[in-house]
Amino acid sequence: MTEQPGAAASGGLEGAENPFTTPYRALFDLTGKSAVVIGAGGIGREVALALAAHGASVTAADVDEAAAMGTGGACEGRWTTLDVTDADQVGALAAQGAPDVLVTTVGINVRKRLADYADDEFDRVVRVNLRGAFTLIRAFGPAMAARGGGSFIAFSSIRASVVEPGQGIYAATKAGLQQMLRTAAAEFGPAGVRFNAIAPGVVETELTRQIRDDPAWGNAYATKSALARWARADEMAGAAVFLASDAASYVTGSVLHVDGGWTAVDGRFDPFAPRS
Ligand SMILES: NC(=O)c1ccc[n+]([C@@H]2O[C@H](COP(=O)([O-])OP(=O)(O)OC[C@H]3O[C@@H](n4cnc5c(N)ncnc54)[C@H](O)[C@@H]3O)[C@@H](O)[C@H]2O)c1
Repeated sequence: MTEQPGAAASGGLEGAENPFTTPYRALFDLTGKSAVVIGAGGIGREVALALAAHGASVTAADVDEAAAMGTGGACEGRWTTLDVTDADQVGALAAQGAPDVLVTTVGINVRKRLADYADDEFDRVVRVNLRGAFTLIRAFGPAMAARGGGSFIAFSSIRASVVEPGQGIYAATKAGLQQMLRTAAAEFGPAGVRFNAIAPGVVETELTRQIRDDPAWGNAYATKSALARWARADEMAGAAVFLASDAASYVTGSVLHVDGGWTAVDGRFDPFAPRS
C-alpha cells in the first residue's frame, strides 16, 4: 500500500489513540460485501457504479433488461431482470441469498391534479412505488436478518415532505415509503438490519425529462434549491455509499435529504437581492 501524506499520523490514531481501534480509513470500504441495486437506470446506475468502486460485488436488477445488463456490465457484476411488482420474482431473487446491501431506486410518477387522476394511474403508481418497496422489504428483510444484518436503502423524495400541484399520489407513496422504512427499522433493528431512505431533490434523469422539456418548469426547479441548480445522478451516489457502509453503522430509520437545500429554504423571496 502506498503511504499518503499524513498517513502516519492517521495510522497512529487508528491504533494508539482510538480506544475502539476503529479502522477509520476503511469506514467506506465495501470490499467483500455484496450489493443488489434494484432500479438500475438513472440514479441506480450511478449508485451501482459507486458501490462497485468501493469494493462491493454488485448485482443490477431492473424491469428493463437493457438497464440491468448495462449497469451490471459496467460494474463488472451480475444482472437480472426483475419487476418489483411481481412477488414471485422478488422472492426468487431473495432466495438466491440475502445481500449485505440492498438499494432500491424503483419509482414512477404520473403528474396530474388529484381531480384528474384515473383509478388505474393511482393503482400503477401505488403498486410500483409503495407495494414494490413493501414486497422487497417482506422478502429481503427476514433474509438479511437471518444472515446477521445488512443495509436496506430506498429512494424516497423531497415530495414526501413538500409538494406542488400534480404530485399528490407520488408524494403519498413517498411519505408512505418513509413510514414503512421506519417500521422496518424498528422490526429488524434487533437483528442488525438497517433501513434508511434517501430523499433527492431534482435530478437530471429520464424520470424528470417531462419537467426539463418545459423551460418554465425546469428553470423554476433550477432556482428553487439553495444550490440553485439541478443535481446530476452521480451526486446521489455518495449518500448510498455512506448508508451502505460501516460509516453508517448506527444510522437507521433515517431520511437523508440530498436535495441541494430544497427542503431547508423557503425560496420564495430574498429581501436582500437587488430589485429592478
Ligand atoms: N430524478 C429525480 O429528480 C428524483 C427526485 C426525487 C426522487 N427520485 C426518486 O429516485 C428514484 C430513482 O429515480 P430516477 O430518476 O433514477 O428514475 P428513472 O426513471 O431514471 O429510473 C428508475 C428505474 O427503475 C426501473 N423500474 C421502473 N419500474 C420498475 C419495476 N416495476 N421493477 C423494476 N424496475 C423498475 C426503470 O426501468 C428505471 O431503470 C425513484 O424512486 C424516484 O422516485 C428521483
